[in-house]
Amino acid sequence: MNTITQERLLAEEVMRARHSVKHYDAEYQMPEQDLKDILELATLAPSSNNLQHWRFLVITDQAVKEKVLPIAYGQKQVVDSSAVVVVLGDLEAGSNVDAIYGPLLTSGAINQQTHDYLVGGVKSLYGNPDNAGVMRDEAIRNSSLASMQLMLAAKAKGYDTCPMMGFNWNQLKETLNIPDRYVPSMMITIGKAKTPARVSSRFTLEQVVTHNSF
Ligand SMILES: Cc1cc2nc3c(=O)[nH]c(=O)nc-3n(C[C@H](O)[C@H](O)[C@H](O)COP(=O)(O)O)c2cc1C
Repeated sequence: MNTITQERLLAEEVMRARHSVKHYDAEYQMPEQDLKDILELATLAPSSNNLQHWRFLVITDQAVKEKVLPIAYGQKQVVDSSAVVVVLGDLEAGSNVDAIYGPLLTSGAINQQTHDYLVGGVKSLYGNPDNAGVMRDEAIRNSSLASMQLMLAAKAKGYDTCPMMGFNWNQLKETLNIPDRYVPSMMITIGKAKTPARVSSRFTLEQVVTHNSF
């Protein structure tokens, strides 16, 4: 078996093995490096214009998790998992454009014309307040890709996760001092399962795929 086939198999196994785990081994100590590796893999997700609209608010302090518990309506995975990652979407991701494309121009990876085209497009989109809705969609869409990648990266490294939107955003924002420029993608708990996830089903392809046009 060649390497690419092995990688494909591994990716499929990881996708099939991931489930939303709600009961974690609260005694388990997750090595800091594993968490760093998972976050770094999540940052490899694609994003519109490579603006990387994600920010990760990582909660490992038990006292902070206890504060989040009532905000997440008492969902115990918040305190029993090793880490809670609040994945945020950046409404001001357009301001990243010079930091992303400047070095590419300097290194010669892109020419001036390509640079100006890419940077100009981003600045005109993100610089126009009429596009607030688009920017919100972009922030949530792109940070959600990082969320998914984070969950698969965690599974590949032997951890379980639970994506969560069952929390009060306004309370979370206030309690953790989250700046106005960020909107929630989702909260993700990471840790070692104590009890397997509840069985979940999926619609068949016939139910979810439409070919060519509606
Ligand atoms: C955006 C989003 C929000 C979710 N919020 C919660 C939540 O607040 N609490 C919870 O226990 N599960 C939550 N889930 C997990 C779903 O219930 C779960 O993904 C679904 O039932 C499918 O199960 P599986 O992930 O194990 O395949 C959420 C999932 C997503 C994608």
